[in-house]
Amino acid sequence: MRNANRVLTLAARPTGFAGPEHFTAATHPTRAPEPGEVRLETLYLSIDPAMRVWISENPGYVQRIEIGDIMRAGGIARVVESRADGLAPGDLVWGQLGWQSAPTLRAAGLEKLDLGLGTPENWLGLIGITGLTAYFGVRDIGGIRAGETLLVSGAAGAVGQIVGQIGKLEACRVVGLAGGADKCRRLVDDLGFDAAIDYKAEPDLAAAIARACPGGVDVFFDNVGGETLEAAIGALAIGGRVVICGRISQTSLAVPYGVKNLGLLIGRRARIQGFVVSDFAARFDEGRHWLATQAKAGRLQQKLHVISGLESAPHGLGMLFRGENTGKLVVHVAD
Ligand SMILES: NC(=O)c1ccc[n+]([C@@H]2O[C@H](COP(=O)([O-])OP(=O)(O)OC[C@H]3O[C@@H](n4cnc5c(N)ncnc54)[C@H](OP(=O)(O)O)[C@@H]3O)[C@@H](O)[C@H]2O)c1
Repeated sequence: MRNANRVLTLAARPTGFAGPEHFTAATHPTRAPEPGEVRLETLYLSIDPAMRVWISENPGYVQRIEIGDIMRAGGIARVVESRADGLAPGDLVWGQLGWQSAPTLRAAGLEKLDLGLGTPENWLGLIGITGLTAYFGVRDIGGIRAGETLLVSGAAGAVGQIVGQIGKLEACRVVGLAGGADKCRRLVDDLGFDAAIDYKAEPDLAAAIARACPGGVDVFFDNVGGETLEAAIGALAIGGRVVICGRISQTSLAVPYGVKNLGLLIGRRARIQGFVVSDFAARFDEGRHWLATQAKAGRLQQKLHVISGLESAPHGLGMLFRGENTGKLVVHVAD
């Protein structure tokens, strides 16, 4: 419907996984832009595990979304009407659009897409926040070096699939952890991982990691946390590094798992470090150019997992926690 903005607001805080029952849909008239603003048509929305954190009671270092607020979400939109310098109707932008189909937003918070660098689909994953998280996390925080063994959890997900491919480009031995035989097969056959472990089929994950990484794990890139983190710590090589990118296995739990083997870090002379991708904002251009160059040369690929319609976004958020996505999950809202 023209001149209508469909919005999804937070209706209730989940205690477990998030889903459609926690959001309410409404339709508002679109708002004409004020000076410095643009009216947009949303094309794609990114679905990220962090969204489950934002709607929890205590989201930590990020601002909490209140009941009744429009759900926060990054995405790509087309400019429909502009009262801002530098943006014209037809331009494509990335920004925090929220779960809404036709937002009017300040232009200052939006980034005009450089389509010379990549397609809008690339901007959703490979050269977007996902790719940048992988790039800075595994290179700067993990400090991977040629010949090392890199273990990646959540390896068939958005960030994980790119981390593993970067590891191969840096001449590492790369082992992925993923749920299910199909995801594991794809990691090895399509993305060039050296090995993949179906953690759901392994009664003893620590033993499986030790078998797949006989020389120990030099860098563990962790998207999962909890018992997965504990199993990987047990396999660290001397001088190993653990990159804490995410902890999706813990996000929806009332009582998180307590990792019990941190004492091993002493003898292994190992290091654990968390990071937030925005710490590297001043170097995003560097990261994007590296990722785009590799992608154009055919050395880096991403799989987008696309679901359709704004109303599918809450279901999509639950999919991440049930392992129902392969690659970067996005909602297609409009062409
Ligand atoms: N630090 C930062 O700046 C930053 C930036 C972006 C993202 N992140 C974090 O990075 C992580 C990955 O994000 P993403 O966007 O790439 O999402 P994603 O990997 O696509 O997330 C979903 C995947 O996580 C796995 N998963 C879900 N529950 C699990 C569990 N209990 N145990 C093991 N695996 C589980 C599932 O794969 P399986 O089928 O294999 O289980 C699922 O497909 C998230 O934790 C996110 O919060 C951090």
